[in-house]
Amino acid sequence: MRANPVFVALDTTDLDYARQLAERLRGHVGGLKLGLEFFSAHGPEGVRAFQDLELPIFLDLKFHDIPNTVAGAVRAAASLGVDIINVHAAGGPAMMKAALEAARSAGPKTKVIAVTVLTSLSDSDLAAVGQAPSAGEQVLRLAQLAKSCGLDGVVCSALEIAPLRAALGRDFMLVVPGIRPAGSDLGDQHRVMGPAEAHLAGASILVIGRPITAAPDPAKAAAEIAQSLSI
Ligand code: C5P
Repeated sequence: MRANPVFVALDTTDLDYARQLAERLRGHVGGLKLGLEFFSAHGPEGVRAFQDLELPIFLDLKFHDIPNTVAGAVRAAASLGVDIINVHAAGGPAMMKAALEAARSAGPKTKVIAVTVLTSLSDSDLAAVGQAPSAGEQVLRLAQLAKSCGLDGVVCSALEIAPLRAALGRDFMLVVPGIRPAGSDLGDQHRVMGPAEAHLAGASILVIGRPITAAPDPAKAAAEIAQSLSI
């Protein structure tokens, strides 16, 4: 059996609720994603509260600042022993290299990946902030840049998996949010795909939040998603 690629996004400020959810989901997901909402409320102590569950943790803080500041933040985050951390590729090559060096010095286990274009952004949103290339073109450019800086992978939407796999090879991690099983709410996401399709297309990790956490029975929702992946 292959590892379950689903990391559930625990987007909440309620530590007890997040912990209970993680315990209930433990057998049905492959990892946990803790992001800005949770970390802003609970910080490093909040992250440590999940470590005994022995599930990989993706600390999704999307750092984007000058290289020295990002390096310091990454060093602190990696020293928590988390499995994956991320920065914005738009921070540029010097920032990505500084982040990678800082993570490697804090612990060899932590993978560093780069956010390309947020899955909530459409082509017209990109045009509104002055980015002429389409989301697909911009994702490819930033992913190539991240790979050339030595990063372990990128965050991209499911729509970009196939072109990125073709351009970047099999070993580069593609971490994919914006996953929506048939019939679930889009919420604020735009560039979405179903879990089985994204898995088949070559995603390394599927980040899934509300379709699991907001379901009437989150464990059942996660189990059904895992089953649909035939892992
Ligand atoms: O609830 P939903 O499934 O939309 O959650 C997706 C998660 O993935 C959220 O925690 C969001 O912060 C994260 N994410 C994203 N797009 C990115 C990077 C991360 O939606 N490009």
